[in-house]
Amino acid sequence: SIIHVILTGGVGSRLWPLSRKSQPKQYLEIFEEKSLFEMTVERNSDLADKVMVVGNVDNCHLSEKVMRKLDKPYINIVESTPRNTAAAIAFAAFASESDDVLIVTPSDHIIDEMEEYNKAIKKAIKKAEEEYIVTFGIVPTKPETGYGYIESKGDDVISFREKPNSVTAKSFIAQGNFLWNSGMFCFKAGVLLDELKTYQPEVYEKSKKAWELNKNGNLDLDLSLDIPSISIDYAVMERSKKIKVVPTAFTWSDLGSFESVYDYLISKGHYVDGCGNMVIGSDKHTTFLGLKNTIFVYTDTANLILHKDSSQDVKDLYCKLEKQN
Ligand code: GDD
Ligand code: MG
Repeated sequence: SIIHVILTGGVGSRLWPLSRKSQPKQYLEIFEEKSLFEMTVERNSDLADKVMVVGNVDNCHLSEKVMRKLDKPYINIVESTPRNTAAAIAFAAFASESDDVLIVTPSDHIIDEMEEYNKAIKKAIKKAEEEYIVTFGIVPTKPETGYGYIESKGDDVISFREKPNSVTAKSFIAQGNFLWNSGMFCFKAGVLLDELKTYQPEVYEKSKKAWELNKNGNLDLDLSLDIPSISIDYAVMERSKKIKVVPTAFTWSDLGSFESVYDYLISKGHYVDGCGNMVIGSDKHTTFLGLKNTIFVYTDTANLILHKDSSQDVKDLYCKLEKQN
């Protein structure tokens, strides 16, 4: 079968204080009337036969609420602690038949132009059936350092480079044959597991052991803590020779940082003043004096004022605040 796997383990720390551990951004109904999680389920519901949600103990009730509202049966995998995407994807693959085609998507993206989206997924499924691991390439608009880059020629991948530094990212953009990795993947469960076993045998073995001892889809904490925390991008995509890319024509935003939220909101007509300052989360009249490209994030319990260029630093701030509490 074709299975839509939703990864929903992250807390979206780069969007603090909009996104909280108790209410990660994918469940907030801030961007449309629906949450990003709900939109993700709907976007793929005609493309796959089954849905699998890989989340964690802190948010599985939030996923359940949406799935109940949509009246969708789903396979529920509950991590006791986040071990990053290599392990999360491995669990999904172990829970599937080797020949099942998995469409793996994050739960927090905004995608417009469904016709293009459907076309891209169908192309990917075909490639996945030919035993390739398929990535989706987005035409880059700036030397963003928070993304993976796919050096490509047609649908062939020359190299995959996860989160380059800013000098390298600039050279990729200048070279012109690099696409952003969208963070969605499509492959046969067995193909991905073989590659993981080859390139990250420890992640493979320990995820396998944890999966084999799961109770009703719930993973044991001690066995999980033993799994190295590494993303699928570093673990497999940068190293596998079986990677293909489907260049895409849909509009995509990962809303991963305040900078991308800012760009997205501007494209939707959200107000910015003449100096590029923006308020998020409040309708109250706010004036910025002597400031440029400042984002004021307002929530009931905490505010954040940041320069747009500091968007990637919010994660560190979040980690520091976590430690203090
Ligand atoms: N279940 C589970 N468990 N999900 C997880 C975990 C985990 O431990 N860690 C992360 N996720 C989920 C996140 O919620 C998100 O939906 C997705 O996996 C990707 O994780 P991120 O942490 O958001 O990755 P990233 O944004 O730094 O990088 C990835 O996405 C970029 C595009 O948005 C990479 O694939 C990049 O190459 C890509 O450009
Ligand atoms: Mg992300």
